[in-house]
Amino acid sequence: MELLHTVEGMQAHADAARAASQRLALVPTMGALHEGHLALVEAARQRADHVTVSIFVNPTQFAPGEDYAQYPRTLDSDLAALESAGGVDAVFAPTPEAMYPFGLPPFTTVHVRDLNRYLCGAFREGHFEGVTTVVTKLFLACRPHVAIFGEKDAQQLAILRRMTAELGFGIEVIGHPIVREADGLALSSRNRYLSAEERQQAVVVSKALAEVHEAVAGGERDPRALVDAMRHTVATAPLAELQYAEVVDTELLQPVETLTSGRYLAALAVFFGATRLIDNTTLDLEGSDY
Ligand code: PAJ
Repeated sequence: MELLHTVEGMQAHADAARAASQRLALVPTMGALHEGHLALVEAARQRADHVTVSIFVNPTQFAPGEDYAQYPRTLDSDLAALESAGGVDAVFAPTPEAMYPFGLPPFTTVHVRDLNRYLCGAFREGHFEGVTTVVTKLFLACRPHVAIFGEKDAQQLAILRRMTAELGFGIEVIGHPIVREADGLALSSRNRYLSAEERQQAVVVSKALAEVHEAVAGGERDPRALVDAMRHTVATAPLAELQYAEVVDTELLQPVETLTSGRYLAALAVFFGATRLIDNTTLDLEGSDY
């Protein structure tokens, strides 16, 4: 497993692998790795000969007042976890100076319009522009054929799919299902911020989404009723403070009037103290789910 800290070093490494006719996969992360990240690495392994994991806490995707300074930086234990999981050829762990050599904020950014109007985009000013900009830079540094992202961040995945297709990167974007704890809580690097009591109550987030599935299976087609039910379930946890609960279409990520045949996303953001948790589920009314 090779550890690379510079863009030039990473590009030379990727070029050598490409010259050896290898198919390259990239798993972009911000570190503080957990089993969800490792599942993405495994999926990458299945699709490529060479796997790069990037570890970079990207300053431009944190809005002022968010947890950029506090975000866990655990490179040594991340490297150990990747070594013992196996199957990783390169770890790209650049400094902010290596990624933003002209300083911050960068003059050059990538912006995907409109898909950031709802869900997290409505609350995290500039967040997705930071994500699309850094992922573009990671693509240019790591030169992958395929990149794996989690469905946990469904809006991020939809925006990155659009960006990759529209800019013609020639990179296949793969979404990986959400990895959960036994009680349903979606794994997240931020779960470590939760107190024992908050952790216990955090189960309401995935519970609210499971109930949406049940309601739709039972014939409910009114998104407002689904949103009300999610609000109600979250409110049963005294330490939970809902930021949003929405049902949107999976194409433009906009709220819908009614559920017809098609695919929808039910999504939540909930604060427990200062910790913000997100989760979502896809409602596929085209397939055989309902
Ligand atoms: P990070 O939050 O570290 O997540 C890295 C990848 O792991 C993302 O694609 C995310 O969706 C996925 N992931 C996180 N928790 C997951 C879970 N429980 N199940 C499945 N996948 C999960 O997302 C980012 O970093 C950054 O925005 C990044 C794309 C790296 C750009 O900076």
